[in-house]
Amino acid sequence: MSRPPLPRRVTVVEVGPRDGLQNEAAQVPTPTKIAFVEALAASGLPVVELTAFVSPARVPQMADAVDVARGVARRPGTRYSALVPNLRGLAAAHDAGMTEIAVFAAASETFSQRNINQTIEGSFTVYAQVMRDAGVMGMRVRAYLSTAFGCPFEGQVPQARVVELTERLLTMGAFEVAVSDTIGVATPGQVADMVDLLRARVPAGVIALHLHDTRGTALANVLAALQAGITTFDASAGGLGGCPFAPGAAGNLSTEDLLYMLHGLGIETGVDLDAVVRASQLIGPSLGHSLPSRYLQAASSVSPR
Ligand code: HMG
Ligand code: MG
Repeated sequence: MSRPPLPRRVTVVEVGPRDGLQNEAAQVPTPTKIAFVEALAASGLPVVELTAFVSPARVPQMADAVDVARGVARRPGTRYSALVPNLRGLAAAHDAGMTEIAVFAAASETFSQRNINQTIEGSFTVYAQVMRDAGVMGMRVRAYLSTAFGCPFEGQVPQARVVELTERLLTMGAFEVAVSDTIGVATPGQVADMVDLLRARVPAGVIALHLHDTRGTALANVLAALQAGITTFDASAGGLGGCPFAPGAAGNLSTEDLLYMLHGLGIETGVDLDAVVRASQLIGPSLGHSLPSRYLQAASSVSPR
């Protein structure tokens, strides 16, 4: 398939307050989370995923979802989203003022079971209901498809299965599918092939890539995806992140590292990189460890003149 030139503009979806924090051992105070979200939105990031309306017993860090969602002062022009696994989560998100949510399915059975205690088909039945009810309430629904490039339990995942499930999520009503490398195993050729297969069936504009950087391939994968026509990428401030139910899942692609590369390529994002660094520096002290973002480390070690 012939490939388009690099896009002039890219949408960066910030998932740090959700994917970034969900795996952190130290309970981050709710006001600190709210300040983190507000700092990220102030940087110009167009979409910020605030939290997850999931079982607090399974993900204790997200137990304050309602307070975070209610507490964040909304910035005009910024979209705010949150994970929702079922109708109960949808109701809670709606009550907390959310107008956009994200459901999260998987492309491998074992991960689906471990993550949400559902078969893939069972989760699609639930998500069809969530999308229908969300539509009635005027809420937009994004969808994730985890383990699209490999599963921590089953290994390789057939690309045809990823394409089929992505199409089904879009047909059910998702406005976008974040095709997700949950454990950071993807390599650039695999990403380019997957994007080509997806683009043969659906418009590039409804596909986002959600990359974890476990093996250092995330930025190379972004470049491959840009060359293949993708214009929406998830990232996490400071490179925080990981899924508690995916052994070996390390941090997300760092927002700072992504912005540095995109801006260097002359691609517009509308985001102030220095302001994202300040947001990461705001959350860092609550976590008890340094943040993995390479750009952040470089920026933090250079003393201002
Ligand atoms: P279940 O395990 O089937 O059990 O839940 P349940 O339905 O019997 O519920 C268990 C308990 O959770 C009950 O409480 C429910 O009331 C409660 P109890 O009676 O024991 O006190 N509950 C809820 N509480 C709050 N909000 C809700 C809710 N639903 C039930 N919405 C469920 C199923 C999906 C809820 C559960 O398994 C769960 O919360 N799992 C956590 C999933 C999760 O957050 N995973 C991490 C995010 S996904 C990810 O990181 C991947 C992604 O980044 C993309 C990628 O990188 O691949 C998106
Ligand atoms: Mg993730």
